[in-house]
Amino acid sequence: MTPFFITSSGTEIGKTFVTCLMLRQLRTAGFAVNALKPVISDYSDERFAESDTAHLLAAMARPPDAHAIAAMSPWRFTAPLSPDMAARREGKSLNLDEIVAFCRTAMTGPEEFLLIEGVGGVMVPLNERDLVRDWMAALGIPAILVVGSYLGTISHTLSALDSLAKPGVPLAGIVISESEDSGVPLDETRATIARFSGDVPLVCVPRLRGAEEATELPDLTGLLRGAEKWP
Ligand SMILES: Nc1ncnc2c1ncn2[C@@H]1O[C@H](COP(=O)(O)OP(=O)(O)OP(=O)(O)O)[C@@H](O)[C@H]1O
Ligand SMILES: [Mg+2]
Repeated sequence: MTPFFITSSGTEIGKTFVTCLMLRQLRTAGFAVNALKPVISDYSDERFAESDTAHLLAAMARPPDAHAIAAMSPWRFTAPLSPDMAARREGKSLNLDEIVAFCRTAMTGPEEFLLIEGVGGVMVPLNERDLVRDWMAALGIPAILVVGSYLGTISHTLSALDSLAKPGVPLAGIVISESEDSGVPLDETRATIARFSGDVPLVCVPRLRGAEEATELPDLTGLLRGAEKWP
């Protein structure tokens, strides 16, 4: 079992899209996979089919029923807000130790890969005290940082890298998921980020506009398969 934490420089960047692509590619390559989306906001049972959790289940070819969603995403909140604010709206508070313990249990599973999608970006608060970064540091598992290609992404990406480096979160790779209507050339953005990101593997995922383009997406499994590198 090799676990990875999928994080990003902000919300709506492409974590779920990239995680689903990884799950599909790993399954095609013959690996057994599992995924978690432990904390989710903007969730409602009426719209469960649109949730990140339902997308991840579909990528694992598992039916997105209520039981599966509850098992993958125990901390579900209605408000489209950061988890600390969304939980507060419901008179609740997230406990980092409980979230970490939930992930650790899944990390003992029989699958070859476990992909844990975070929530929002690296520095999003979970409660009054803890950030997503603290969750990642507590797990001590390698991270995949998903970033966009919009104007402004370079500063956001390098800030996220700095934030991850501070508590020593190990980084397995950076995925640039091309932003919609980005006026910035993807290859130049990639080259600029690469100049400042050291020897971390960097992969670009072009904007997928139709199902027919799906075959042109790059193989992301290489970022995950160097398992012996990770403790
Ligand atoms: N390379 C891409 N090609 C096509 N669509 C993409 C790509 N990357 C992201 N998207 C789309 O952009 C939207 C936001 O992406 P996604 O839901 O993966 O973001 P996220 O980081 O998981 O957001 P959240 O913080 O809400 O979990 C989705 O509709 C997704 O399908
Ligand atoms: Mg998501």
